[in-house]
Amino acid sequence: MEDHEGPECGKADFVLLDQVTMEDFMRNLQLRFEKGLIYTYIGEVLVSVNPYKQLPLYGPEAIARYQGRELYERPPHLYAVANAAYRAMKRRARDTCIVISGESGAGKTEASKHIMQYIAAVTNPSQRAEVERVKDVLLKSTCVLEAFGNARTNRNHNSSRFGKYMDINFDFKGDPVGGHIHSYLLEKSRVLKQHVGERNFHAFYQLLRGCEEQELRSLHLERNPALYNFTRQGAGLSSGAHCVSAGGSVGRGPAFWDRDSRRGIGTPRAGPGPALARVVKSSSQALESDENSHRAVTEAMRVIGFQCEEVETVHRILAAILHLGNIEFVETEDNGLQKGGLAVAKEALVDHVAELTATPRDLVLRSLLARTVASGGRDLIEKGHTVAEASYARDACAKAVYQRLFEWVVDRINGIMEARGRDPRRDGKDTVIGVLDIYGFEVFPVNSFEQFCINYCNEKLQQLFIQLILKQEQEEYEREGITWQSVEYFNNATIVELVERPHWGILAVLDEACSAAGTITDRIFLQTLDTHHRHHPHYSSRQLCPTDKTMEFGRDFRIKHYAGDVTYSVEGFIDKNRDFLFQDFKRLLYNSSDPTLRAMWPDGQQDITEVTKRPLTAGTIFKNSMVALVENLASKEPFYVRCIKPNEDKEPGRLDESRCRHQVSYLGLLENVRVRRAGFASRQPYPRFLLRYKMTCEYTWPNHLLGSDQAAVGALLEQHGLQGDVAFGHTKLFIRSPRTLVTLEQSRAQLIPIIVLLLQKAWRGTLARWHCRRLRAVYTIMRWFRRHKVRAHLAELQRRFQAARQPPLYGRDLEWPPPPAVLQPFQDTCQALFCRWRARQLVKNIPPSDMAQIKAKVAAMGALQGLRQDWGCQRAWARDYLSSGTDNPAASGLFTQRLKALRDKDGFGAVLFSSHVRKVNRFRKSRDRALLLTDRHLYKLDPGRQYRVMRSVPLDTVTGLSVTSGRDQLVVLHARGQDDLVVCLHRSQPPLDNRVGELVGVLASHCRGEGQALEVRVSDCIPLSQRGAQRLVSVEPRPEQPEPDFRCSRGAFTLLWPSR
Ligand SMILES: Nc1ncnc2c1ncn2[C@@H]1O[C@H](COP(=O)(O)OP(=O)(O)OP(=O)(O)O)[C@@H](O)[C@H]1O
Ligand SMILES: [Mg+2]
Repeated sequence: MEDHEGPECGKADFVLLDQVTMEDFMRNLQLRFEKGLIYTYIGEVLVSVNPYKQLPLYGPEAIARYQGRELYERPPHLYAVANAAYRAMKRRARDTCIVISGESGAGKTEASKHIMQYIAAVTNPSQRAEVERVKDVLLKSTCVLEAFGNARTNRNHNSSRFGKYMDINFDFKGDPVGGHIHSYLLEKSRVLKQHVGERNFHAFYQLLRGCEEQELRSLHLERNPALYNFTRQGAGLSSGAHCVSAGGSVGRGPAFWDRDSRRGIGTPRAGPGPALARVVKSSSQALESDENSHRAVTEAMRVIGFQCEEVETVHRILAAILHLGNIEFVETEDNGLQKGGLAVAKEALVDHVAELTATPRDLVLRSLLARTVASGGRDLIEKGHTVAEASYARDACAKAVYQRLFEWVVDRINGIMEARGRDPRRDGKDTVIGVLDIYGFEVFPVNSFEQFCINYCNEKLQQLFIQLILKQEQEEYEREGITWQSVEYFNNATIVELVERPHWGILAVLDEACSAAGTITDRIFLQTLDTHHRHHPHYSSRQLCPTDKTMEFGRDFRIKHYAGDVTYSVEGFIDKNRDFLFQDFKRLLYNSSDPTLRAMWPDGQQDITEVTKRPLTAGTIFKNSMVALVENLASKEPFYVRCIKPNEDKEPGRLDESRCRHQVSYLGLLENVRVRRAGFASRQPYPRFLLRYKMTCEYTWPNHLLGSDQAAVGALLEQHGLQGDVAFGHTKLFIRSPRTLVTLEQSRAQLIPIIVLLLQKAWRGTLARWHCRRLRAVYTIMRWFRRHKVRAHLAELQRRFQAARQPPLYGRDLEWPPPPAVLQPFQDTCQALFCRWRARQLVKNIPPSDMAQIKAKVAAMGALQGLRQDWGCQRAWARDYLSSGTDNPAASGLFTQRLKALRDKDGFGAVLFSSHVRKVNRFRKSRDRALLLTDRHLYKLDPGRQYRVMRSVPLDTVTGLSVTSGRDQLVVLHARGQDDLVVCLHRSQPPLDNRVGELVGVLASHCRGEGQALEVRVSDCIPLSQRGAQRLVSVEPRPEQPEPDFRCSRGAFTLLWPSR
């Protein structure tokens, strides 16, 4: 059980009391009641105390806490019992029933509503439409039945004036698929008369106060209930109906209404002053509540499936009853014109009744004033009523019409709720949960036939309770092989027998009195009872006990019920039991043109001359229905809710000790506890016991290795030294004293925190392992994915580069697919390798004579790094242009001579480059010169003087050269320890041929071969140094310039380049 059910809240199960005495029982009840804990168990029986205030115990969250739990897992609650009944039904496919008992106002109807709500909330998770419909009807039917069957009494503002047993049918999934309501003995005499402070059935007030003005007019009614005999008594009283607010009369405090009404102020006859003010206030409250209820009931009827015409008929019948109640009879004199006899005082009322019941006016009048009797054979004669007879007939008619109306409403709901289209072969057998909410034990100042029946019903149920509880207990002990010890308890079988025994019982005597010819009076009936039961310990009367002045001679008899003594007045017993209604009314109403009303009176069809069997008396019908009910309940697995009314004043939070003690005693709750503990306070199946306590013993924690659960339980108990206080059944352990249970609970409670830690540890470990496993899976997936990507990439490369060997392109245009990140370095290497391979393929095919040129071009490309737009790559590089006859036709011979002389002198191996140039010197003078580059020297020659050497620089001092990015032929040669040589290649064939790249290439190629560094700079503004002076040289394209030339301004050189 949960923690907040701690010691300060008392024992959640009376079985756990140390001693079973009334004092201890009451102390526990009181303690829990004060803490707002209105529910307590006796084993599986729930004891409920009416709190008379709204407690935060109900609603969806509370339902969720009980759903799917065992009875003992949560604090005692109606939901737990509902859940237990539901689970028992589902688990074992057994019919179960919940019997709610207790006296009037103890909270039975409220309890049944909570149970229904619970069942509705936990079923149909798949939201099947048909199941939802059934649930709707089940829930809404309560409201409608309360309107027609409940009334305000002095004991309960919303007292059920009929017994109700509702079967709910469930399919194999545990969803409600239908239902059936049985109603028992409606207290129909209430239609005519009510005690002071009480009201007629709610339906009348709801109609008068709630219906629309237009409808009211069509019903010929006035709003004021005080205008009608049947509703006058309760006209100033509020309703206790709960259709609109669940609160109703709750919390209204000590009976304000009751006090007023007892003084007779609650009626419209009240005098002026504060009392009147209260009446006005009370009337308006009543009005509002009835008005709202009317709306709610009409809406509920619509939802349930009543047709509009049916609801209208219901209203018309209620109105007809009210009019009927106002009909008075007068004797008329014989005045010559008209025969004397009986007449109706206000004939308009007869018109209204005829109109509302859709029957001919004349027939209504005739039925009220006379009756038809068959006099031998088929002759019919009409016999006029006396005033008394007519009044009796009118009242009987009003009661009967109301009763038939009520029964029709119940039948109609049943018709709608009936499980439809179910085939047991296809759908499996339906299981049933029955909920019994029947009127509680009642004692009024004057008790009549109805109270007698109600109290007899409670006796029957009490007997069933005793039988079932004892029987179940006994069966269990036998089943488990445990010796049974009998317990003393009061068995009320003798009282039940007093009432229902054939021939002798009170009901049998009453029936006899009813059937006897002649006029047997109630008094004679009493005398017969006295003779029959003079020695019965539970029966007495004034005749038998002349000194007892609390009973009236010739009127009262007393039964010592299990719940207390009740004095009944025999007045009206015979009449009520006979429940006689003249056939004329039955025929009248059967012939109504309203089909709904007609359907309520099938027996009106019978011909008056037909000889029929005597109808069963009300008492016998009731007795039979009770016997059937008890049989029905006994065939089901029962769950009990025992309701206790804490005080008479409907006051919240007050528990009247003596009143409750009385109820505890007559409900036999102490005996219940004793029976439950008859040697054994608790019993549990071995596996469940182990589950709960196994942590308290080293042999059973975490799991035992013994031969059976029973052996393990034995070992556990031995370790605690408790083996002497238990008995071992076949499947269950029986624990004798609650102390043993408490000891086990305590040692369990001590270990729970450790187990919680253990569980937390294990759970965290599990979570971490899950996380780890997930990560591993992620990495595996990633690995495989990468592998797949790599494979796919390689396959793609292979596919694309299959054609790479084809000359002449050798895969030049092939595109490399983007590699996965992991393959980027690999691909870079591959690309480099591919380039080299491709270069090799290309180079392989080059003739050796072209190799030097190719090397030079490669060197030029490397040195220029793509910074110069055009470097003459496409041309064949001839190198020694000055020796060429085409390039230097005028002086090639001269140059060749000079070259020979130089070779002889300097001993160079090869000419790398030769060309005419235009140069500018540090004196800003520009001249034509020739440039000769051998593998040893760089020569500056003068073409004007047979190419005389003007300057010779050893090639290994040349450190670099600078060129521009354009097409111009500007070259600046840098040499260590020398002025920079600024030249522009020119006078070439074709003119302005692009030879700068060639110069760069041959020089770079040579330097690379020599292992000499050469710096090649590409810039459009070349810095140079001449004798320490720093200058800049740039190029200016000029279309009109015939020949390239230098210009100097502000210390900078500009090459004027003829750009064409
Ligand atoms: N659990 C509860 N919480 C709050 N109020 C309650 C509860 N149970 C009963 N009551 C109050 O007590 C009143 C009487 O309850 P209820 O109508 O259920 O009694 P009953 O046992 O059905 O009586 P009767 O036999 O006369 O029909 C209710 O109208 C309601 O105001
Ligand atoms: Mg009730």
